[in-house]
This record gives sequence, structure tokens and C-alpha cells, in this order.
Amino acid sequence: MSAKHGTGYTMGFAAAVCLVCSVFVCLSAVALKDRQEKNKKLDEQKNVLKAAGLLAPNEDADAAKVAELYESVQPKVVDLKTGNVLDDVDAATVNMRAAISDNSKSFEAPANDAKVLRLPNQALVYEVMQDGKPSLLILPVSGKGLWSTLYGFLALDVDTTTVKGVSFYEHGETPGLGGEIENPKWTALWKNRTVYDENFAPAFKVVKGQAGSPEDAPHQVDGLSGATLTGKGVTALVNFWVGENGFGPFLAKFREGGI
Ligand SMILES: Cc1cc2nc3c(=O)[nH]c(=O)nc-3n(C[C@H](O)[C@H](O)[C@H](O)COP(=O)(O)O)c2cc1C
Repeated sequence: MSAKHGTGYTMGFAAAVCLVCSVFVCLSAVALKDRQEKNKKLDEQKNVLKAAGLLAPNEDADAAKVAELYESVQPKVVDLKTGNVLDDVDAATVNMRAAISDNSKSFEAPANDAKVLRLPNQALVYEVMQDGKPSLLILPVSGKGLWSTLYGFLALDVDTTTVKGVSFYEHGETPGLGGEIENPKWTALWKNRTVYDENFAPAFKVVKGQAGSPEDAPHQVDGLSGATLTGKGVTALVNFWVGENGFGPFLAKFREGGI
């Protein structure tokens, strides 16, 4: 069988197909960027609402419903080192996850058990407002589990220590083992536990086995069977983010009524 076209033709044809495809991919990436950004924002808002208990864990609300519920949420920008609220900075301009890849917007974290390597200069805190006053504080939290970085939101009462809700929305732990951090039956056990001891030192712990009631074990939550290492990561990340290198300075100022 004789070849119909020479090598040059075949190479040129392949190059033309590649060029057309790459132009198509670039154009769709640009065209979809806005929609992707909107979906990311919507997802973040849903997760904040889930931690706040304003949206059920498995509820998949549409954009209109999320926007309605989110009206009571006020994002605040916090200078992580001082704990001061930066009223002149628009929360929409703050992206904590992007900031840690930019040396001008982040700094090296002191060694810590949560294995947080860098911290953003500016962090977000979400206040749920009721009758013109904050009724809940929602903190973004993250840290290493066994296989992956765990990302979640922790909702605290205005006493800054009592947990009102938690939601882990992104991780790469094993489904059925560490992945159970997403299970609403487990996260429900966190309610009314306290993250600080009586001196406001971080005291939260995911124990191995059962913790008992919030009255008997105020700072403890049941372990996840077969996932002790993920549980240790959760312990470390909660204590890190409510501690002096996380939101501790902000929470102290909030408690003292300075914010
Ligand atoms: C394939 C595989 C996946 C695992 N995934 C996890 C996990 O996601 N989180 C975790 O803590 N342990 C995981 N483990 C188990 C850990 O290696 C370790 O045995 C476990 O954390 C100890 O928990 P236990 O004391 O509750 O049994 C996994 C083990 C295997 C073999």
C-alpha cells in the first residue's frame, strides 16, 4: 500500500489540529473563568452556612437560597498577627489560600503540630449577625491529616470557646476512614464542646474511642475508628487556629469587647 501523503503533510496536519484544539481550550478557559469564580464563591458561602447550622449538612441549596441565607453573614478581614479587624480592607479582595503562595501576602508559620507552613497576613472571619450583633464567629481552619490538607470552617459561640458547628469541605483522606470527618453524625458530636480550657489555652482533642457527653468531656470529641492519625490532625489544626499563631489574638480582642 503506498502512502497518500508525505511526512511533511502529516506533521503539518497534526500541528494544525493541536493549534486549533489549544485555541479552543484557551478560549473556553477564559470564557468560563467568571462562572468558575462564581461557583467557587457559592461553594465557600454554602460551607460557611453549613458550619453555622444555617444550611443542613447534605442540603444542596441553589444560588438564590444561599444568597438569602448569606445576608446574615458578615465577612471581616483580620490582621492575623495583631488580631485587629481591618475595616478598610474589602473582604472580597482577600483570598487566604492564594495569599500563602505569595511571599508579599504571607509569612512563615512557627513550627506547629498542624503542619501549617505559611500564614496569610490577612485572614477572613465570618460573623453571623442577629439583631445587629454577632451571634456566631466562623473561622476558616486547615492543617494536615494523614494523607492530605484538611480544610474546614469552625463555628464558635460569641464566648469564643463553645463550638456551635464544624464542616470539613475539602480533604484527601480515605473514604470510610479519615474521610469520615465529613460525616454529619460525627460533626454533630462537636456541638457545645469547648476549644479552650478555663485559662483560654487551646484544649481541644479528638480522643481514641468515645469521649462522653459535653458535660463529662467538655473539650473532647469521639475518635473515628481506623482513623486515629486523621483525628490527630484535626486536634492539631483546631488548637493551632484558636491559638496564639492563628485567630487567638483576634478572639481575645473579641472577648474583651474591643471588636
Ligand atoms: C489503605 C489505607 C488507608 C488508610 N487511611 C487512613 C486515613 O485516611 N486516616 C487515618 O487516620 N488512618 C488511615 N489508615 C490507617 C492508618 O494507617 C492507621 O493504622 C490508623 O490511623 C490507626 O487508627 P486506629 O488506631 O483507630 O486503628 C489507612 C490505612 C490503610 C491501609
